[in-house]
Amino acid sequence: MEEKTITQVPKPIILKLGGSVISIKNKSFALNKRAIMRLAKEIERADVSSLIIVHGGGSFGHPVAKQYKIDEGYKDSSQIIGFSKTHQAMTILNKHVTDSLINRKIPAVEIQPSSIIITRSGRIHIMEERPLTRLLELGFIPILYGDAVPDSSNGFAILSGDQLVSQLAIRLNVDRIIMGVDVDGLYTADPKACPSARLLQHITLQQLKKLRKNIEKTNATDVTGGMLGKILELIPALEHRVNVRIVNALKPGNVYRALKGEVVGTFIEKG
Ligand code: IPE
Repeated sequence: MEEKTITQVPKPIILKLGGSVISIKNKSFALNKRAIMRLAKEIERADVSSLIIVHGGGSFGHPVAKQYKIDEGYKDSSQIIGFSKTHQAMTILNKHVTDSLINRKIPAVEIQPSSIIITRSGRIHIMEERPLTRLLELGFIPILYGDAVPDSSNGFAILSGDQLVSQLAIRLNVDRIIMGVDVDGLYTADPKACPSARLLQHITLQQLKKLRKNIEKTNATDVTGGMLGKILELIPALEHRVNVRIVNALKPGNVYRALKGEVVGTFIEKG
């Protein structure tokens, strides 16, 4: 068969949909169906030319991963079924997100991180990104997620959607990253714990590094470290000069505006 040749492919945008946006975080296996449907509509309306979506685990992946201590690596055989259940939880959540996109005629195609990635001590070590880049070239919207993955030193690990976003941004040389979260952006301190916390609209990587000590863990059930984990994971992408926008994806219109290039929430750049 003749190979389809692709001429010009625009730099993709990566959109992360946090687990606390697409699920109800403190209720096991509870979907935020309204948010998922609204976000699909916003993505359809924005109609960007090249897009990769990565979503988090929320109340699907995190509680199961925690129950079986998947993030601590292989310790005993009782965890094996837990790895399967964690991955299964993520595929269930993914199916809802993917279905809502396809229902809007957005050509989303799921890519299972556990089938293309091996971590080493929790860090992405091997990643087969060619099917993903090929799908992008053909105009598909690859959709990935935080997942339980094989790990060459610890047996298995939890790969956060945030680490995945950062790595994809570097490897695919993306245009920008949009982090859809459940707060308005990055604050000087944890806004849920500290009422005097101030929203930062524009910061540089250097300022971010100074700030990271102030950003506290926000949720004890989050095996990947909540906001602190997210911010630390974005540093390699920022070093690579990929700009990051952190937006509140629970507020209607924000993801649409961010996809269109408007600055909402916090804008972070290498500076
Ligand atoms: C976690 O992914 C995936 C699993 C627990 C399997 P993330 O760490 O990216 O999820 P959220 O966005 O914080 O919920």
